[in-house]
Amino acid sequence: MNQPTCDLTLSPAGRRLRVAAGSALQDVLFEQGVEFPCGGRGRCKSCRVKLLKGRLQANAEETKLLTAVELADGWRLACRHCIDGDLELELAQWEMPILSDHSAFTFTPQAGLGVAVDLGTTTIAAQLLDMGTGNVLAVATALNAQARHGDDIITRVEFALHGGQTELERLIREQLGRMIEHLLAAAAPEQSLARIVLVGNTVMHHLFCGIDVTPLATHPFEPEHPGRFRFSPSQLGWNFGEETMVEFLPCIGGLVGPDILAGIVATGLHEGAGLAVLLDLGTNGEVVAGNRDKLLCTSTAAGPAFEGARISMGMRAATGAISEVQLIDRAVVCRVIGSGAPRGLCGSGLVDAVAAGLDLRWIEANGRMTLAGAMPLSGPVALLPQDVRELQLAKGAIAAGLRILAARFGATLADIQQLYLAGAFGNYISRTSAQRIGLLRTPVDRIVPAGNTALLGAKRALFEDAAAWDGLACRIEHVALHEEPEFQDIFAEEMRFPETA
Ligand code: FES
Repeated sequence: MNQPTCDLTLSPAGRRLRVAAGSALQDVLFEQGVEFPCGGRGRCKSCRVKLLKGRLQANAEETKLLTAVELADGWRLACRHCIDGDLELELAQWEMPILSDHSAFTFTPQAGLGVAVDLGTTTIAAQLLDMGTGNVLAVATALNAQARHGDDIITRVEFALHGGQTELERLIREQLGRMIEHLLAAAAPEQSLARIVLVGNTVMHHLFCGIDVTPLATHPFEPEHPGRFRFSPSQLGWNFGEETMVEFLPCIGGLVGPDILAGIVATGLHEGAGLAVLLDLGTNGEVVAGNRDKLLCTSTAAGPAFEGARISMGMRAATGAISEVQLIDRAVVCRVIGSGAPRGLCGSGLVDAVAAGLDLRWIEANGRMTLAGAMPLSGPVALLPQDVRELQLAKGAIAAGLRILAARFGATLADIQQLYLAGAFGNYISRTSAQRIGLLRTPVDRIVPAGNTALLGAKRALFEDAAAWDGLACRIEHVALHEEPEFQDIFAEEMRFPETA
């Protein structure tokens, strides 16, 4: 007789396992590299897992060790449970660093509290601010609850198109409502919440606001309702006072969303005299170029290589990911997030690995790997020829987008005065490696890792008249790269790597 099995999904790595029903969760996770420092005695809390889907009834030991908030959020101790049904778990030991923001900015003081939210496809960052002082009172970060229906934006849209749009809307509205409730309860339960401003990419904008994502799935990928949306809390099923104003900032055009609009304001790109660029490297690499006179933007079909997807041993920048690769005396030396055993390669590690392969002449300028099989990195993790190809596609698309926008200003890439790298990947990527592979060709001293510009922009929006944001969105011209006659030729050129450093 066949033994019953259960499906176990582990986030944020997205690993899926089929295990025998009744297996000890500790045994299964140990096989996956999870550590149990107190030997599974329920003392150290290091084996915490967060229940995303399924059922794990909290037991008496857990109610003593974990706080009420942790338990309500679904945290459990893996060493205290067996697997009796399908489960989806987030592992605390595989935590992803989620970028928040603590930049100073100027503002006009206002009454009450405000919440700024950067709603990402993978992660969410929210900050509670005292709008009188501008001080950040509390920060909350989380993995996007929609991720159970697809890690990346493409699978998320596919799920929506196959009848899941309402479910995705429900998940994100409920999750954000809970996060904001926790922020208020932890920092300022007595004060009134005046305003909530959300930013995110175009798909997140549509899914949160309840707008059909179908136009985003087909050519020309133009949103039908790109504008700013305003809600009362009750429209979202949130239990805040009706005086709270909730706004999702407008999209710009194509797949360039409110997060990029926020990034423009955060970097001041729209106010400067010289040519500046904002680059957000994700599944759709978004590029904005301009100054106070003219602003252009585009999104490039860069593919998900920079997020570690479609790479044979690719993974997100979580515990166990090789995030840096260096050459020391021509030996490959890797840094692993969390200092444990390497489990895979994230985007910044991929860029470094290819740069190292080029310097060692293990990879040629056309992308061919001269080593037989694969380029070994650390432990079981290696770089395969098809991984190099994926990176070529991604970097070719980004570099072509940059070149085409710069040309519209009569400029070359060397003329860019300031190039801001937005988001987590931009924060961790080595600028030297990015230059070595030909992704960026602006002098290194003009490349600025700008952090979570989306969250900073959302915070600034809390203090400003939202109509100004609508005006700025209208000023930005969207360039559809696939309609540019020279795009294919430039893309093919940019897929090559530079011959030398
Ligand atoms: S391993 Fe220490 S509490 Fe589970």
